[in-house]
Amino acid sequence: MAESEPKETILLVDDDIAHRTMLKVNLAGQGYVVEELSDGDEVLPYLKGRHADLILLDMKMARMGGLATLSVLLQAGVEIPVIVLTAFSSVESAVEAMRKGAYDYIAKPVDIEELTILIERALSFRSIHEENTQLKNRLGEKFSFSTIIGKSAAMQEMFATLSMVAPTDATVLITGESGTGKELVANALHQNSLRRDRPFIKLNCAALHENLLESELFGHEAGAFTGASGRRKGRFELADKGTLFLDEIGDMSLQTQAKILRVLQEGEFERLGGAQTIRVDVRLLAATHKNLERMIEDGAFRQDLYFRLSVVPVKLPPLRERATDIPELANHFLRRFAEKNRKDIKDFHPEALNLLMQYDWPGNIRELENSVERAVILCLGEQLTPHDLPPHLLSKEVRELRHSTAQDGFTLRDMEREVIRSTLEKTGNNKSQAAKQLGVARQTLLNKIKEYGL
Ligand SMILES: Nc1ncnc2c1ncn2[C@@H]1O[C@H](COP(=O)(O)OP(=O)(O)OP(=O)(O)O)[C@@H](O)[C@H]1O
Ligand SMILES: [Mg+2]
Repeated sequence: MAESEPKETILLVDDDIAHRTMLKVNLAGQGYVVEELSDGDEVLPYLKGRHADLILLDMKMARMGGLATLSVLLQAGVEIPVIVLTAFSSVESAVEAMRKGAYDYIAKPVDIEELTILIERALSFRSIHEENTQLKNRLGEKFSFSTIIGKSAAMQEMFATLSMVAPTDATVLITGESGTGKELVANALHQNSLRRDRPFIKLNCAALHENLLESELFGHEAGAFTGASGRRKGRFELADKGTLFLDEIGDMSLQTQAKILRVLQEGEFERLGGAQTIRVDVRLLAATHKNLERMIEDGAFRQDLYFRLSVVPVKLPPLRERATDIPELANHFLRRFAEKNRKDIKDFHPEALNLLMQYDWPGNIRELENSVERAVILCLGEQLTPHDLPPHLLSKEVRELRHSTAQDGFTLRDMEREVIRSTLEKTGNNKSQAAKQLGVARQTLLNKIKEYGL
């Protein structure tokens, strides 16, 4: 459609005239109307009087750089998609740019083919964006992450990132220890995206061997390998227009990594045993509990893929670093499992909750969930007590006490004396605190201290 209607208007903002001209020639050659500005501080004044469909924004400019310009646009409520041009080495600033609302970034020197694909994607994103009134709320807080519990500062910070990034097509790398909620976050990102009515496809990369994994990802033609009887679509094709969630991405061979990188950069691939190139429009979310930076050092993970995946990194904090979230999570699971098991359990005994808060949860929220489920099943009364909890949650002293019997040569009096002595030691001889921990009145404790001559 070379000579027919002009395409959309692209606003090119770069203080390097040579680079600007090169881009302009290329993009105008593709039919786009290209307008030029030589610094970031000219963008907003320009947009007050003129229209643009997309902005290409250089990061480094003499008067106002890309990041500052993005802030200005964000504050002014400008909703035109922005692609930032950045030096390959400055991934941090690209990430910062995405946080400030940029649609995507491209490294300099710019690969024109890659840029063209990005521009097309950004422009189609914009047309959905305009249809979708929901998106008016992009900067508000209308996003619903209600399935994710967390009032701690660490979680609140994460919600802020999630609501910024959910409606974009940015690839998100979700990291965190096992059981911290990575899959839950991936789900929430899709549910709060423009793609929510399109497929959400998941694949656990750790569960499959290399060949099978590639066949699952990219599909195969009949006879591609032994056992490949008919043609089969892969997850990338199934996820077209939607979201693909690759779980345990750290468990993928270097060869498969290279293929994923190509889909991310060019949006295309071939089925195994196939010659036809297939194009898809897929938003990728990835998760891992592994340390990818260390894997890069060891040569086990491609750095370029890492950069592509971690445009927006989301790191889930381990539960032990946000113990303030434990009561709400525990009560949430209590209600859920009480209902499921038809039990009339109202709440936790304060000491049970205390134990939950003191434990360090190596298995994070999944372990908490399982512990509460077990406790609900064992519970006989209306309140979950320390006795209903898994024994390893009890404090060391209580565990030891549970195993000591009169045969150890102790009488009940001996034990009482020892427990009082160790509690006093632990509280630095604070009698009120010790009495509280022992569950007796302060005066009772004072009497015992006298009695045992402590
Ligand atoms: N913040 C949260 N609020 C409520 N439930 C949560 C939260 N985080 C995790 N969960 C629940 O904990 C369980 C574990 O979460 P999820 O499967 O998302 O963890 P994961 O990080 O993917 O773990 P793994 O690395 O083992 O795959 C799930 O049942 C999930 O619903
Ligand atoms: Mg998981």
